Amino acid sequence: MKTAARVEDVAEKLTSLAKRRGFVFPSSEIYGGAGATWDFGPLGVELKRNVKDSWWRAMVQLRDDIVGLDGAILMHPRVWEASGHIENFTDPLVECSHCRKRFRLDELPNGDALTSAWRANKLDLSKEPCPNCGSMPALSQPRRFNLMFKTFVGPVEDTASIAWLRPETAQSIFVDFESVQQATRRKLPFGIAQIGKAFRNEITPGNFIFRSREFEQMEMQYFSRAADAPRFYEEWKDLRRAWHVAQGIPANKLRFRDHAADERAHYAAAATDIEFEFPFGWREFEGIHYRTDYDLRRHSEFSGKDLSYFDDATNARFVPHVVETSVGADRATYAILCAAYDEEPDKEETRVVLRLRPHLAPYKIAVLPLSKKPELSALAREVWAAVRPHFMSTFDETQAIGRRYRRQDEIGTPLCVTVDFESLVDRAVTIRERDSMGQVRVPIAELIPALREKLGA
Ligand code: GAP
Repeated sequence: MKTAARVEDVAEKLTSLAKRRGFVFPSSEIYGGAGATWDFGPLGVELKRNVKDSWWRAMVQLRDDIVGLDGAILMHPRVWEASGHIENFTDPLVECSHCRKRFRLDELPNGDALTSAWRANKLDLSKEPCPNCGSMPALSQPRRFNLMFKTFVGPVEDTASIAWLRPETAQSIFVDFESVQQATRRKLPFGIAQIGKAFRNEITPGNFIFRSREFEQMEMQYFSRAADAPRFYEEWKDLRRAWHVAQGIPANKLRFRDHAADERAHYAAAATDIEFEFPFGWREFEGIHYRTDYDLRRHSEFSGKDLSYFDDATNARFVPHVVETSVGADRATYAILCAAYDEEPDKEETRVVLRLRPHLAPYKIAVLPLSKKPELSALAREVWAAVRPHFMSTFDETQAIGRRYRRQDEIGTPLCVTVDFESLVDRAVTIRERDSMGQVRVPIAELIPALREKLGA
């Protein structure tokens, strides 16, 4: 019998589980944290890597029209002028004159209406109380706050040495467009995919790893003729949604939200968010944008390098149009954790299960000797040594076997292999499934194919 945990509790329970079991820790915690940055622990690094591998497989390995890239984080400062980020990558920031707390305008109660009013030059904050101290009137007129982190290259901190930490990975794809196209001799339409770190000096980070100041993006730019771009925009919406469902996110927890003209990013002619129902409400976790020829055209203009494409079928030269898919690896990992979290009654207690799809689970297999007796331990270690080259796996021999099963359930390990006293005689072991808790006995000699079949690998 399945009893879902109360939705609003899930965020809190996951944050605690993530810390206790080694998925995610606050960064620099012994110094009191470092302001919305996170470290992925031994289990978190496996989970996030599996999410990224799954994305790469879908977006690069299984496609004959997409290639990969790993661009540098530090780029020429003109990149960010050309891309429009220096001028436009801003959030409206308001400050309370009493408690000095700062807020993003769109995150105030009634934020959407306030933002629309601000865009229409009709904003009146005199009747808006400060969400922190309640003072009214106290909120300042919004000022534009650029989200990019500034740094300096080399020993001198002057305007000539300014560099920016990239706020999106996409720009190296645009800047390298011609190099990639020529090196791979690609013809339109084709895509370039990239996974990498991005940085934003968010005014109001929060909700655990949902919004942080350092995060990873998984982005793909699909280059095509202008006339084909609207069709690819629709196709990528469907493909990306299907990918999320294949990661175990129920279809009814996903929806599209099209951006109104006045909320689109400066580069987008059309944009939609794929939203997931997080425990704190529906929120964006992937953006799909029709960026037109904006970026290539701007980089041509600012660098002086012609980034147009020569179509040898028509002998015409033109600047390709771009449809972009962009999802945060951390945010996707969080959504997957939220969707996987489950609780069910278990005798007097509650069984916590992360129902992660096997390809995402940090450990696919846990090898568990029934007791710590040396002869069982030795055989179990032999079994683990046979399993390790094939599957990311773990070994646990402390405490009662029931408790050890629960520990593996809680971190999403799909299969446990139990070595018992009978195993010493019949050279067979028990495979126990996380979801059904069903058990089957398998000869050690046939264990690897049996595990592979059960994992659906
Ligand atoms: N290149 C387009 C772009 O960056 P975006 O909608 O600003 O578009 C894309 O960001 C995705 O990156 C978001 O849907 C989200 O998953 C992730 N993301 C953005 N800001 C983030 C943050 N502060 N923390 C974690 N993930 C973030």
